[in-house]
Amino acid sequence: MNRYDHYSLLGHNTFRMPVSCACFIEYDSADELAQLDFDALPQPVRHIGEGSNLLFTGDFPGTLLHARMTALKYVDMGLDEVPVVAGAGLRWDRFVEETCRHGLWGAENLSLIPGEVGAAAVQNIGAYGVEIKDILSGVVCYDTQTRKKCKFSVGECGYGYRESLFKETAGRYIVTSVLFRLQRKPAPKLGYKGLENLQPSSPADVREAVIRIRREKLPDPADLGSAGSFFKNPVMDALSFARIAEAFPEVPHFILPGGFIKVPAAWMIDRCGFKGVREGGAEVYEKQPLVIVNASGSATPEDVLRLEQRIIDGVRERFGVTLHPEVEHI
Ligand code: EPU
Repeated sequence: MNRYDHYSLLGHNTFRMPVSCACFIEYDSADELAQLDFDALPQPVRHIGEGSNLLFTGDFPGTLLHARMTALKYVDMGLDEVPVVAGAGLRWDRFVEETCRHGLWGAENLSLIPGEVGAAAVQNIGAYGVEIKDILSGVVCYDTQTRKKCKFSVGECGYGYRESLFKETAGRYIVTSVLFRLQRKPAPKLGYKGLENLQPSSPADVREAVIRIRREKLPDPADLGSAGSFFKNPVMDALSFARIAEAFPEVPHFILPGGFIKVPAAWMIDRCGFKGVREGGAEVYEKQPLVIVNASGSATPEDVLRLEQRIIDGVRERFGVTLHPEVEHI
């Protein structure tokens, strides 16, 4: 375990906000977590992954914990459905790359998503028609209240669109490892635009196609600071949708179970003319307006917050819809 005081977070948030925290602790096992006296640490205590879905709105006065467990274990390669266990600190895309390399189907549509395995399970990451909940079977945690390890089956994780029990209980459970169930028999999911015509002979083929699509649309955090999609896609009832469709018959939409309708926030933001709009060093990304980027490299949290508010106000005025951030504000 390592502890750092007054620690710069520049390398721990993909938005590259120039902020710091009072205390930063990296640990190597759930047992080390159990040894920590949480009450004695600078408060509040939060856990972070790679910081790829976070906006630090200023210096963090408390303690940030970060997992260094990066093991990846194939429990039984002889089964059709192979159980795989991954440490919470493993980089998500490393997990996808490795499991694809072993010919296992399941994670390939989630290629190139920044972040780590633990945070991916907290956030229920999703892309190109797959969410992590579709391929995981359980999540192992440390419960900061009972101070014991515990395990949740996928059904107990309360998963919804970018939602989970772990998000709802705001830090009570720290994910230490995630159990996946991956397929040895071909199980491609090619319903998403851009993948329909693919005839993959391996999960690596799908991974390659997904990487190509993502590189076309999304900024590489190594080149340009961002936290991926900044807003969630709004889900509305039929009446609210009908009001939008009357004024904008071309509105793209997806019908969800229960009769609800999801409208891409990117389309609304685009329609409001926000592409390329700036507040200080923060900018609405030209190729995918759902993303806010640190265009100058020196954007401040205030720049991002001003731009966020401008987009929310603009979309509300034009469409009567309130966008909610997908990126977590700390
Ligand atoms: N659109 C526009 N103008 C644009 C770009 C997009 O009008 O310039 C409209 C188009 O109608 C397009 C639609 O927006 O069809 C949807 O765009 P896209 O397929 O790129 O997906 P998204 O709904 O904007 C979601 C996820 C992404 C994920 C993609 C692909 C959320 C908040 N975002 O974006 O996830 O990669 O689908 O599955 O659900 C992330 O969470 O950080 C992330 C990048």
